[in-house]
Amino acid sequence: MSIKLFSLSALPEGGAVSFPYKNQPAFAVKRDGEIFAYVNSCPHLGIPLEWQENNFLDDDGELIQCATHGALFLIETGECISGPCNGEHLQPININIIAQDVFAE
Ligand code: FES
Repeated sequence: MSIKLFSLSALPEGGAVSFPYKNQPAFAVKRDGEIFAYVNSCPHLGIPLEWQENNFLDDDGELIQCATHGALFLIETGECISGPCNGEHLQPININIIAQDVFAE
C-alpha cells in the first residue's frame, strides 16, 4: 500500500523537506527536477541530520550535510563522501509521484 509522504508543492527545486515515514523522521531533496528521499538518520550516530527545520544541505546546496559533525553525502545516492561515516550510506526511500503528491512505494 502506498503511503502519502508530502505534496510536491512542499519541495522547491534545490530545497529539502522533512516528513514522517513509518514512525521515523525522513526527508527529501529536489535537484534538477528529481526527488531523492532518505530516512533522516546519520550513519555515524543514528541521529537526525538537521538542526534547523528542512535544512539538510551544505552552504552551496550541493551536498546533504549532517549538522552534528559535518558529514557530507551525495544527494543522488546518499553515500557519505566526507566525515566520520565516510563510505556509509543514508537509507533510501523509494518514492512514486502521482499527480501532485509524493508517495512511498
Ligand atoms: S552524527 Fe552525523 S556526522 Fe556525526
